[in-house]
Amino acid sequence: MRILITGANGQLGTELRRCLETGRAQIGPLPDALQGAQLDCADRSALDITDEAAVRTWFAQRGPYDVVFNCSAYTNVDGCETHAAEAFAVNATGAGILAAATEHDGGKCFYISTDYVFPGDDERPRVEDDEPAPLSAYGRSKLEGELATLAACDRSFVVRTAWLYGQAGGNFVKTMLRLARQNGKIAVVADQFGNPTNANDLAYELLLLSLTDDYGIYNCTGNGVCSWYDFACAIVDIAGILCEKEPLTSAEYKERFPQSCDRPHYSSLDNARLRVTIGDDMRPWREALASFMEAHPEL
Ligand SMILES: NC(=O)c1ccc[n+]([C@@H]2O[C@H](COP(=O)([O-])OP(=O)(O)OC[C@H]3O[C@@H](n4cnc5c(N)ncnc54)[C@H](OP(=O)(O)O)[C@@H]3O)[C@@H](O)[C@H]2O)c1
Repeated sequence: MRILITGANGQLGTELRRCLETGRAQIGPLPDALQGAQLDCADRSALDITDEAAVRTWFAQRGPYDVVFNCSAYTNVDGCETHAAEAFAVNATGAGILAAATEHDGGKCFYISTDYVFPGDDERPRVEDDEPAPLSAYGRSKLEGELATLAACDRSFVVRTAWLYGQAGGNFVKTMLRLARQNGKIAVVADQFGNPTNANDLAYELLLLSLTDDYGIYNCTGNGVCSWYDFACAIVDIAGILCEKEPLTSAEYKERFPQSCDRPHYSSLDNARLRVTIGDDMRPWREALASFMEAHPEL
């Protein structure tokens, strides 16, 4: 099996690579069909997915691939409001370019999307068929990327995840640890709810899905719902950091950070389709978080 990961040095790209290189995830070993897979990893400097000619050349010289994981994205949610053109170029146009190249060679294409395609105005975990209506430029760019991928490649998986953390790059877990240690205090929004997701667990589920022909849209997040404040408290508690914890409303947060964009109040996803296809192996979010922090004591 031949696999390409783009955006390979990001959080998810790094965990996919780790799983494929070691033959296992934190959840468990990979199936035999994935052991010894031939892997090409491209970061942005090696392959910019917004450059159609470069993508074509890459596939012509190194393809064909059985599976392409598009882990490239513009993920700065607030930054998308002020850099919308850049965000749409990567999250939407680039996604379509990569999906078209994958389609041309007969491969399967994975596009990773977000809970932020939903408005979050309804306190009910969203299933895959629910109507998206993003509040932010990030959410709109990701929804456009979903559609571009599905339109360009018949063998597409669009997998929506949320509140992702992994070993590479910056994320909420690392930020909370830094602030708690530096300031002895964290102040975190307590009225936005979602599903923290361990990138290594997500990578495992994506790899299992890649062995199927059950294309289409999936949700894949850690199990259980919490607020950002609950998530932050769990992070500092597991790390054993004693600090002051201040819950904020979204309105209070906006006063402190006026440049921040609107986020959904309740954007929990239900892994409904996973349960009826490969099975939902995603762990309860606290367990997955503890396992992540145990695996990375350097944090
Ligand atoms: N992080 C979350 O909480 C979250 C939540 C829901 C969904 N998601 C989705 O999950 C996926 C993985 O997220 P992540 O957290 O792993 O993202 P990440 O850590 O920000 O990694 C994204 C990678 O994409 C690369 N990239 C940016 N522009 C590119 C381009 N034009 N061509 C090729 N590569 C490019 C980045 O490279 P540079 O560093 O050089 O820019 C970076 O290595 C994304 O699709 C994201 O939208 C993430």
